[in-house]
Amino acid sequence: MNNPYGNDLAYIHDDGFGGFARQASRGILGLLQKAGLNDGLIVDLGCGSGIWAHIATENGYSAHGIDISENMIQLAQKQAPNASFEVNSFLKAQIPSCTAVTCMGECMNYLFDQDHSDEQLRLLFSRIHDALQPGGLFIFDVAGPGYADATGPHKRHFISEDWAVLVHVSEYKREQKLTRYITAFRKTEDGSYRRTEEVHRIQLLTGAHLAKILRDIGFKVRIRKGYGNFQLSPAHSVVIARKE
Ligand SMILES: C[S@@+](CC[C@H](N)C(=O)[O-])C[C@H]1O[C@@H](n2cnc3c(N)ncnc32)[C@H](O)[C@@H]1O
Repeated sequence: MNNPYGNDLAYIHDDGFGGFARQASRGILGLLQKAGLNDGLIVDLGCGSGIWAHIATENGYSAHGIDISENMIQLAQKQAPNASFEVNSFLKAQIPSCTAVTCMGECMNYLFDQDHSDEQLRLLFSRIHDALQPGGLFIFDVAGPGYADATGPHKRHFISEDWAVLVHVSEYKREQKLTRYITAFRKTEDGSYRRTEEVHRIQLLTGAHLAKILRDIGFKVRIRKGYGNFQLSPAHSVVIARKE
């Protein structure tokens, strides 16, 4: 698609849906600390508006965020001034040498990059394996089949003071794909509301399927239902992959 997470949806995601990244961040910090990874570079794939990058830099790490949305990266640069960022698809970006790689909020599922495929994910996982220090962690969540039923009504609305958003999800069970039809209204300076539409297509992926690819590369893998105490829906998996 042309401009995913354009100006208004990037703003709305940060303003209304940033709680996910804040809660997941607590769990990720716990996993890093438990593994003795208390400093070094964290590369955040699909970093969005930089919520986790900001928290990481406040907790003794340096952070580099990669996101395909220019508007998300603009917000991230403001939110996390001590981190570095790049507008790019993580399927194409180089992964610098690092302590950990993270990818939260179903970023691995999105079909924004037309080249998205199992083979491209395998190549990405292999680049991540090369970039990680021994003992380094690759932590991410994915949405799997059954997502639409597991996450509540298929048509939902969310309202705030200066925006409203309508979301309709359709899951295509045979193809293991899901489409989110999003209509967003954002208040402008003259008090009227600007309407934008985005359609997000995602590939549903199971943790077990991705774990097999990761193990073939040499990672040691655990699958969890959440980030520490922050539990996700039954259709989601959190994958924790460790470079030996
Ligand atoms: C649901 S948002 C999550 C953002 C952030 N991780 C968070 O939790 O707040 C998904 C993000 O993934 C990004 N994204 C999706 N596919 C991508 C790709 N191939 N390369 C880089 N970013 C991607 C989107 O632009 C968006 O910012």
